[in-house]
Formats: sequence, C-alpha cells, structure tokens
Amino acid sequence: MSQVDVLIIGAGAAGLHCAATAAARGKSVLLLDHAKQAGKKILISGGGRCNFTNMYTSPENFLSQNPHFCKSALSRYTPWDFIALVEKHGIAYHEKTLGQLFCDESAKDIVRMLMAECDTYGARVQLRTEILDVSYANDQYQVKTSQGSYQASKLVIACGGLSMPKLGATPLGYQLAEQFGHSVLPVRAGLVPFTLHDADKERYAELSGLAVDVVASNERSSFKEAMLFTHRGLSGPSILQISSYWLPGEAVSLDLLPSTDVLAELQQLRTDRPKLGLRTVLQQWFPKRLALTLADQHQWPDKNLADCNNALLTQVAETLNSWQVKPNGTEGYRTAEVTLGGVNTDEVSSRTMASNLQPGLFFIGEVLDVTGWLGGYNFQWAWASANAAGESV
Ligand code: FDA
Repeated sequence: MSQVDVLIIGAGAAGLHCAATAAARGKSVLLLDHAKQAGKKILISGGGRCNFTNMYTSPENFLSQNPHFCKSALSRYTPWDFIALVEKHGIAYHEKTLGQLFCDESAKDIVRMLMAECDTYGARVQLRTEILDVSYANDQYQVKTSQGSYQASKLVIACGGLSMPKLGATPLGYQLAEQFGHSVLPVRAGLVPFTLHDADKERYAELSGLAVDVVASNERSSFKEAMLFTHRGLSGPSILQISSYWLPGEAVSLDLLPSTDVLAELQQLRTDRPKLGLRTVLQQWFPKRLALTLADQHQWPDKNLADCNNALLTQVAETLNSWQVKPNGTEGYRTAEVTLGGVNTDEVSSRTMASNLQPGLFFIGEVLDVTGWLGGYNFQWAWASANAAGESV
C-alpha cells in the first residue's frame, strides 16, 4: 500500500489546481483519474479556447441552496490570482465579452500549465486508474484502484458532476459523499439547450442556425444575450443561462426586441407611415425567416399599419416583447455544461472545503452544490475551491 499525504480523485480543473497548491506546501500528493487524459473538459471548453475565468466574478453569479457558501473561497482566490498564474506561464489571453477571458491560442495551454505546476511541485498525476473501493480506518483513507492501493490521511473528492458522460463524468463523487454520511441535493442538467414540443419543433425547424439577441427571463432570473434556433429547440448563451433557473413545465419569456417598446414603436409608425405593411415592419426588425414564421404562427394579417387596430398591435407587441415559450425539456447531461445540485454545502466548511462530518475529507469543484453562470464562472469556482482545499489539506 503506497502512502502519501493527500489523495485526490479527479484530475479535472479543480483536482489539478488543488494538487499543485498542496504540493507547493510540501505535501506529497497523488491525483487519480480513470480517464486517459487530464482536464478533458478544459480541453473542449470555450470552443477549444477555454474561458478560464471571468474578471467580474462575484457570488451573485452562482446558484446554490446556500448562496453564501462560495463567498469565502472566491474572495481568497480571485480571477486576478488565476490570471497571474496564466501570465507566469506566458499564456496569451483576451477578453471576449462581459469579462470572459479566453486563451488566444488553445485550451491545451491551460492543461499544460496545470500539469507543469503539478510537475514543478512534485504532485503525481496517475491516469487510467479505476477507483474500486474507498474506505476509512485508523485516521487513514484507503483507496483501492485498478493500479494498486493507496493510503492517505487526506482525501479530496474532485470528481465533478454528471454532465458529458462521454468525457468521463460519473456519479462517483456523489456516491463517496453519501458513503461518508453527506447528503447530496437533487442534481439536474444546467447550462443546457432546451428541446421543444413536436409542434413547435416542426414550426421552428426551418429557423435552425438563426441567432437573435434576446432577453430570456423567468421569475427567478433574466439574461440579455444571443439565442440560437437549433433543429431540436433553442440554444445560445441566453438560453443556456436561463436553463439553470428553469423547472420542468414552466414557460420562459423571450423579449425578441429588448431595447424597443414595440407597441409604442408600432403606434408611432402607424401615424408616421400608415402605408407601411405590418409584415414589412417585422422584416425590418428580424431576419425574414423569423419575421414570417412569427407572423404565420400568430396569423398576423398582411395589412398596412393604417388598417391595424390597437388590439392587433398590442398582440404583436406582447409576442415580440414577451414571447412565452414552454420547453418540452432539455438536452440533458449529454450536452449540459454543468450539473446543478450536488454535495450539500451545509455539511462542508466554506473556508477549507473540509467535510464537517468526516475528518480529512474534502470536496472541491462541481461536485459541490455550487454552479456558476456561463462565462468562466465555473472554472473560477474550480480554481477557488481547489485553492481553499489545497491550502488546508
Ligand atoms: P471536471 O469535470 O473538470 O473533472 C472531474 C474529473 O473527475 C474528470 O477528469 C473525470 O475523468 C474524473 N472522474 C469522474 N468520475 C471518475 C471516476 N469514477 N473515477 C476516476 N475519475 C473520475 N466552465 C467555464 O468556466 N468556462 C468554460 O469555457 C466552460 N466550458 C465548458 C464546455 C463544456 C462542453 C463543458 C461540458 C463544460 C464547460 N465548463 C466551462 C464547465 C467546466 O468544465 C466545469 O465546471 C469544470 O470542469 C468543473 O471542474 P471539476 O474539476 O470540478 O470537474
């Protein structure tokens, strides 16, 4: 049985950063993962350029049953700390939009950087290792794997959530949490495209590939970003964002002309240019395909504005400023970027990420019930929670 100070399960964003942080403090660290490659999600993130942090990260950008839990770790390891690491490794980056920082070249640079940090401080990363059994006796964790057995007084669970099983996601983190007496809050897919009911899917199929800027909202949140029609339903940043706040059966409100009071605008146009056709106006505001699909669906007549009464203009305005769409569901974990819910943070120290129930056990990253918005916030949580645990193990 090999003995180390710290065993970490999961060589993703959080596990790698925690390993280097703990090793830099002189701890002997072994990081185990069943995958062939470390940091697989990092590699495909941000379209291959990894949106590795967000300059404006704040606790308001996270969902959790306990919204206060993330505050301590985020304030002690900020985006600027991670940016300093990125700069130390000479990785060029840029802000794309809304504080989102991406690599200029490739997400591979971030994985290389994390691996180099592990290497510098002597943290061992062992891949292709199946976890067969985890037990605790005499103040030690024993981890039996397909590659041998390992023992440590500190065990860090960094197995992530359930999103993208083809990249190696499994429920191991939740299972281990429950094995050691932790409660796991219900999990569901987040930052995920919506699917539509068959009738809507058919109706909007020909709009597939079309993007428009919208405000997607429900009673819990609101996001002003692009929306994309897909052949299954709706996607794009605004939809992914609101999906994390959506519950099955609910409608989502879409403002298709966020900066326009459509009713006031239509009434003004009716006075100024009464001969203008209603459908012509719609085609000036939207791509033709979308304008005509909306008009046909709602049976808006092909009339001049002069012949449109207030009731009709009000109906058009309500649809455009507050289109109610009821998704059939989401695309699920297959395409979700994150998993909502997870290990209950009430049973974990917000300062160190240590279990309040089991000595020497830590949880970091996505396995915890902390989920960020789209835009680099999830990696920032991975780095910050990993740092908190790495400084404490
Ligand atoms: P992560 O999932 O990274 O790592 C978990 C590790 O545990 C994996 O290496 C896995 O192989 C291992 N593991 C799981 N089960 C195991 C088992 N049974 N045995 C052994 N090992 C096991 N976020 C962001 O901020 N900016 C972005 O640009 C993106 N983009 C993005 C794109 C896509 C397509 C996805 C799916 C996700 C994103 N994200 C993102 C989210 C981000 O990738 C995610 O929040 C972090 O990777 C979470 O880091 P963790 O280390 O907690 O889990």
